[in-house]
Amino acid sequence: MSKVWSNRFDTSLNSFIEEFNASISFDKKLIFEDIDCSIAHAKMLCKTKVLSSSESLEIIKGLESIKKDFIEGKFTPEAPSEDIHYSIEEKLIDLIGETGKKLHTGRSRNDQVGTDIRLWLRKKIDTIDNLLIDLQNSLFLIAESNIYTLIPGYTHMQRAQPLSLAHHLLAYIEMFQRDRERLKEVRVRVNTSPLGAAALAGTKIKIDRYFTAQELGFENIYQNSIDAVSDRDFCIEFVSTSALIMSHLSRISEEIILWVTDEFSFAKLTDKCATGSSLMPQKKNPDVPELIRGKTGRVYGNLQALLTIIKGIPLSYNKDFQEDKEPLFDTVETISACLKAMTILLNEGIEFNIEKLMDTVNNDFSNATDLADYLVGKKVPFRKAYQIVGDIVKYCLTKDILFKDLHLEEFQAFHSEFKEDIFENLNPMNVVKSRNSLGGTGFDQVKLELIKWKKKLKK
Ligand code: ARG
Repeated sequence: MSKVWSNRFDTSLNSFIEEFNASISFDKKLIFEDIDCSIAHAKMLCKTKVLSSSESLEIIKGLESIKKDFIEGKFTPEAPSEDIHYSIEEKLIDLIGETGKKLHTGRSRNDQVGTDIRLWLRKKIDTIDNLLIDLQNSLFLIAESNIYTLIPGYTHMQRAQPLSLAHHLLAYIEMFQRDRERLKEVRVRVNTSPLGAAALAGTKIKIDRYFTAQELGFENIYQNSIDAVSDRDFCIEFVSTSALIMSHLSRISEEIILWVTDEFSFAKLTDKCATGSSLMPQKKNPDVPELIRGKTGRVYGNLQALLTIIKGIPLSYNKDFQEDKEPLFDTVETISACLKAMTILLNEGIEFNIEKLMDTVNNDFSNATDLADYLVGKKVPFRKAYQIVGDIVKYCLTKDILFKDLHLEEFQAFHSEFKEDIFENLNPMNVVKSRNSLGGTGFDQVKLELIKWKKKLKK
């Protein structure tokens, strides 16, 4: 049966419109937060003597039994209740009668829904932060055991200079650390209580906003009631932070996808995280990183949706805000799943092909800078050394050989300062070792970084 709103209405809603208007199908996720919010509100109304202690107690007991019934599967919030807030209030009135009708004194669904989402999101941010730490730890473990594994470093997707694999992976740890810092900052704004703003203007009922904020663990309260009910910046900030997390996950996914191709063969997928083809029996597909890369689009889409929903909304609450939930929920679900999947992929889904990696860095021109720097060490101006090495590369290319295949006399034909120790300098291990500038890939730098992260990553 469609419900009739207040006595102002004569007939009930058109049944299609009733469904169109409802959010219960998705906002039932907020059930625990809604109950917690109501309990805090009821306690507060008792403290300010708006409710007697027996009324407040009756309401709180009712709410707790609703929570218990839900956990035990004896209560399901569902249509025809419009949303989770009505669903609980209706259930409470069902359960305890007239006193239940006092719960909504001095509040509105507008400050209530704002409170619920913030409580929900605050918890999720903490879970996501832990997932980020797990992922950083997985990267760390691979890095720690691959200080001396070399991997070609690229710019423009062209071989540039060899790197310690640990250094490459540590770059991702840094990126995810920035994500954690951003989340921490967003959490401060999420952790601000709008409760008590009522519909938009505050209330004449005697309330204590600090009391409810403290009960619910909020650090701050909104200073302006209109802002309190119309602010969804925190949703956008969270989804924007998530979009960056996804971009980082997508970039590492892309690298893994490349690394496991036959063309690269820098790594291979274990059976635990690879899938086959329904047609081609030889195939082993990197579905996990591909899905993560693909799901990045969803989160970017959610960000775009939220920005667009908010942009034209006059103050204060408008029903458009109901549309904030699905993109937010979907973002939390998507990034949580992707962070977990990437962690599993790193822990047990991928094996680096160390031999192939070492072989690769030994067979390219990625030590060309070192050849130039060798001459710089002999007081040759860099730009001049750079041109000389360009000539040597050209010479090698015509003969289809590498620097290491040249004889000392051939080097000396380009510059007399080349000595026997040039061959040692060209060895990729020495090339990497020598990049010992702060934050460089030199092994000593990498070891220092690993020590720093080991301390930092302890939860
Ligand atoms: N379901 C609504 C939402 O998600 C709750 C707030 C409704 N407030 C109102 N004035 N209609 O935004």
